[in-house]
Amino acid sequence: MTSNIWTEKYRPKTFAQVKGQSHVVSKVEAFVKERNMPHVLFAGPAGIGKTTLSLVIAKQLFGDSWENNFLELNASDERGIDVVRVKVKDFARTKALGDVPFKIIYLDECDALTKEAQQALRRTMENYTNTCRFILSCNYSSKIIDPIQSRCAVFKFKPLNKEDVFEVINMVAKAEDLKISEQVKETIFEASGGDVRRVQNILQSSATFNKEIKEEDVLAIASLARPKELDEVFTQCIKKDFLAARKKLLDIMLEYGLSGLDMVIQLQKEVWKIEGLTNNQKLEFVKNCGEVEFHLIEGSDEFIQLESLLARLMLSSE
Ligand SMILES: Nc1ncnc2c1ncn2[C@@H]1O[C@H](COP(=O)(O)OP(=O)(O)O)[C@@H](O)[C@H]1O
Ligand SMILES: [Mg+2]
Repeated sequence: MTSNIWTEKYRPKTFAQVKGQSHVVSKVEAFVKERNMPHVLFAGPAGIGKTTLSLVIAKQLFGDSWENNFLELNASDERGIDVVRVKVKDFARTKALGDVPFKIIYLDECDALTKEAQQALRRTMENYTNTCRFILSCNYSSKIIDPIQSRCAVFKFKPLNKEDVFEVINMVAKAEDLKISEQVKETIFEASGGDVRRVQNILQSSATFNKEIKEEDVLAIASLARPKELDEVFTQCIKKDFLAARKKLLDIMLEYGLSGLDMVIQLQKEVWKIEGLTNNQKLEFVKNCGEVEFHLIEGSDEFIQLESLLARLMLSSE
């Protein structure tokens, strides 16, 4: 059955369909060809193919019986390493079916494990080396203890570049009969930060309104304001009209349903494009965004924090 969720429906099934990550794909493909692989560690941000590539490996190695030979666990949902250990033990008890001498265990979010739990994981990996290969996945390889890293081939996944994201957009657009302008593709790319899960979710949500994907819908779904409107906030600051700048900021937040935090993140990106500010003012602004972000996470009042950000920008242009 094909899934109604586009991230699943368009999940690559072969190595060739995986976009970007070519440095990883070519090595992993060689493992599959040799029907042998070491334990591996996949590191990188969300939505860029770590789970997908692991599934492709399993499907290519085991064919139709892949589901019997592949165990997927999540280190952060499985309530601790003990649950992982028991599940691994059960799974590893029987030999792999077919001509591959091992089964695969995919353990997601390994950086959620404490150092002690990682030590236990390392022992589990050693105990089952004869029958299983582990694919560990994490956001930051630096959070994984050295004894695990040294037992694994470590691969770093990168957010997809514009060209690859455009290919994903075009592929989905063709299959779903969507109309998307180049400008809107740019906006989707910007909003995704190279995260393909995000690209597909934005497309699917926008397509529920209209087969022609509109910029407004993309921006609303991605909680982004129109860059032009943000520019207006900066323009008012440059003109020293505090009340107008504050009003514009508030209007944008309400119109797009943005949180204070969303706003700071976007202002901090957009400031680089503003012509009427000096480099030092921009640097100072970015530094202040960092502080404001910290206060917002601590629970400070959004409007007071944002107003202080604007006030500081105006004072810096004295
Ligand atoms: N490199 C990629 N090429 C093509 N599609 C991708 C890629 N990475 C992710 N996707 C899409 O995004 C979805 C989520 O990717 P996934 O591999 O689960 O991400 P993660 O890196 O968080 O494990 C996939 O189902 C697929 O549709
Ligand atoms: Mg994943």
